[in-house]
Amino acid sequence: MSICLSLKFFYKETQEQDKFKELSLIRPTLPETKVNNVNLETDLFNRTLSVPLYINAMSGGSNRSAKINQQLAQLANEFNIGIASGSASILVKEPEQESSFSIIRQENPNGLVMANINPFVSVEDANHIVSVMQADAVQVHVNVVQEIVMPEGDRDFVWLENLRQLQGDLSVPVIIKEVGFGFDLATLSLLEKEGFKTVDLSGSGGTNFAKIENFRRSEHDYSYLSDIGLSTLQSLINANETNLNYLASGGIKTPLDALKCLSLGAKAVGISGILLHQLERHGYEEARHFLQTFITHLKELSAVYGVESPVQFSTINKYYHLELENYRQQLRHDFR
Ligand SMILES: Cc1cc2nc3c(=O)[nH]c(=O)nc-3n(C[C@H](O)[C@H](O)[C@H](O)COP(=O)(O)O)c2cc1C
Repeated sequence: MSICLSLKFFYKETQEQDKFKELSLIRPTLPETKVNNVNLETDLFNRTLSVPLYINAMSGGSNRSAKINQQLAQLANEFNIGIASGSASILVKEPEQESSFSIIRQENPNGLVMANINPFVSVEDANHIVSVMQADAVQVHVNVVQEIVMPEGDRDFVWLENLRQLQGDLSVPVIIKEVGFGFDLATLSLLEKEGFKTVDLSGSGGTNFAKIENFRRSEHDYSYLSDIGLSTLQSLINANETNLNYLASGGIKTPLDALKCLSLGAKAVGISGILLHQLERHGYEEARHFLQTFITHLKELSAVYGVESPVQFSTINKYYHLELENYRQQLRHDFR
């Protein structure tokens, strides 16, 4: 069964429990803001987004996924938010699938478009993918846990040298991206030292690829791995210790989740599973309504928390619940 179909019919089974409850934002009782004054325009990779949101990597490489990319790109275009394709690495071997990726730029001619590739793709092939998609940036997914649980997955995780080449020679900026298991501080520090600039943290708490891939195995023998990710909040706390630019994704379901990520320094917030579920299960109009409501609420909530522009997100006071505070404390001593 394809991953999109799993999400359509078994959405709940693909999801992990909400982890955003481990952080509370502290609301100023007198915010002194006006919703109409809230302007969340954000510059990212030479494009200006209306709000710091993007539709994260999901689709491409078949007729069905061309349709999904078309609809997601129409939404990105209407709301002027960013969009990433699903893995376009398939184009190295199957150039006939190009249109399922290039449709994103066609439907979203002036918005932020990111291409997504695996960490083995060469600079030459990646530059070709960028030109096919007219992409503004490239996400390189690093997905060790998914590969291990995937029946046909890779067993070779020696990626750093190729990542260096991509970072050094690609015609557009590179984003190193997880797929729902988050980033530890040691890896983020290594990436920073190596000269990488941007990561997409994609932590646990939402779509869980250990569950999805295990579902495809007849013996379901990797079920015990579904909880080994670092949450998006833990990954944000890690990234906040570095000077990297970071995007946050993984488990974003409400505008309050997004605000928590922004308050912890994320430059923008990515949504995947829940949007695809809306689209596939309930149709285009429901997906559109979901995004429209999300964006309206994000602006309203910003005003509630005393924020009228993105530079103010980091001024929101926070309360770390016990588990997350423990993580923060141990990070200071043990995980460097
Ligand atoms: C159907 C589906 C396909 C995905 N395909 C890709 C992919 O090709 N490349 C990638 O980097 N991430 C992929 N992802 C992972 C998402 O980009 C994201 O990191 C992850 O789903 C966590 O976000 P969520 O909890 O909002 O779904 C996919 C996710 C879904 C749901």
